[in-house]
Amino acid sequence: MADITKTGILNSLKAVEDPNFNKDLLILNSIKKFEVYNSALNMELSFTLPSSNDTDQLKDKFVRKIKEDFPSIKNVNLSIDAKTTVHQGSNKNPILPGVKNTIAVASGKGGVGKSTVAVNLAVALAKDGAEVGLIDADIYGPSIPLMLGLKEKPKIMQNQQTMKIIPLSNYGVKVISIGLLVDDDAPVIWRGPMASGAVKQFMSDVDWGELDYLIFDLPPGTGDIQLTLVQTIPLTSAVIVTTPQEVSLIDARKALKMFTRVNVPVAGVVENMSYFIAPDTGKKYDIFGTGGGSKIAEELKVPFLGGIPIDPRIRIGGDNGIPVMYDTPDTEHAKAIEQISKNLASQVHLINVKGSSASKMEILLEDNE
Ligand SMILES: Nc1ncnc2c1ncn2[C@@H]1O[C@H](COP(=O)(O)OP(=O)(O)O)[C@@H](O)[C@H]1O
Ligand SMILES: [Mg+2]
Repeated sequence: MADITKTGILNSLKAVEDPNFNKDLLILNSIKKFEVYNSALNMELSFTLPSSNDTDQLKDKFVRKIKEDFPSIKNVNLSIDAKTTVHQGSNKNPILPGVKNTIAVASGKGGVGKSTVAVNLAVALAKDGAEVGLIDADIYGPSIPLMLGLKEKPKIMQNQQTMKIIPLSNYGVKVISIGLLVDDDAPVIWRGPMASGAVKQFMSDVDWGELDYLIFDLPPGTGDIQLTLVQTIPLTSAVIVTTPQEVSLIDARKALKMFTRVNVPVAGVVENMSYFIAPDTGKKYDIFGTGGGSKIAEELKVPFLGGIPIDPRIRIGGDNGIPVMYDTPDTEHAKAIEQISKNLASQVHLINVKGSSASKMEILLEDNE
């Protein structure tokens, strides 16, 4: 029988299978209390999302597993606290004081599905119980209003000292976009400094309130807007979206390196348009090749968060302003996005507790032994 140590228990829990449970969450920092007394174990775990309504089921599985692996423990008193951790820099940030974590969704190339991923991840996190905001930082090509079915102009709240824009809200996500402020067919002839200024204003002049995650949908590449963002706030992390083929990977690598150079931890790589399943035959086609996303994640030593298949329903959801994550949560593609959102939440948690992302989890376990 294994010794009753923190590490022993954690290793045992790692074997528990549950759709809402990400093994990467099980680092020692998750244990807030650990007492073994006679034949009783008192333990408190603190995780990021899984959503709080899933913890009961997970708790039962944990208790059963502990009793099975450690027969001398007769009583397990376990509490699980599911909440979002705060990025160290963010809570001291005067520009976004109520925002716990800021996440940039970036890519090297346009058209890889960055906005689609940003929107659906935001909806997935909100469905899991998080407070979520989304800034459309693609000033030259804003697509978030269309993808979230938003048309009204945001209201402005003014008093003597301050003026704040009230973000619009749909599917549990608060949103601001230049597309909501200027007319659809007005040419957006923003020069670089004006575009960067708009992104700054989206942070300072919008009434975000308390948020667990504020997500930025960035324009493609590594230009002025990206630079402004990393210079204005201590970003918690970046997510890189790529498609599997080499031409997309070349630019994804550049984007990834840019964030690393300015010390923004990369929470991981998402591979979009990973494959296509023909609805008539069920046959799988690797339209843009296969494995590119995991390949650069491995090469650049950042986590791979997952892949999303090509599905016409994703495109239709975007065009109609009804995200698949909201509309058809039981499809394969929505489930893939949901898993990516959980992986992302765990990576952000790891970054917050250790200043690093998951690839180092195993080392952490050994260090703390
Ligand atoms: N996995 C997918 N399956 C089908 N269509 C997709 C998928 N991902 C994105 N699209 C579609 O591809 C187009 C480009 O996506 P978009 O998110 O706007 O890319 P980006 O923001 O990187 O320029 C959109 O019409 C979108 O609906
Ligand atoms: Mg876009």
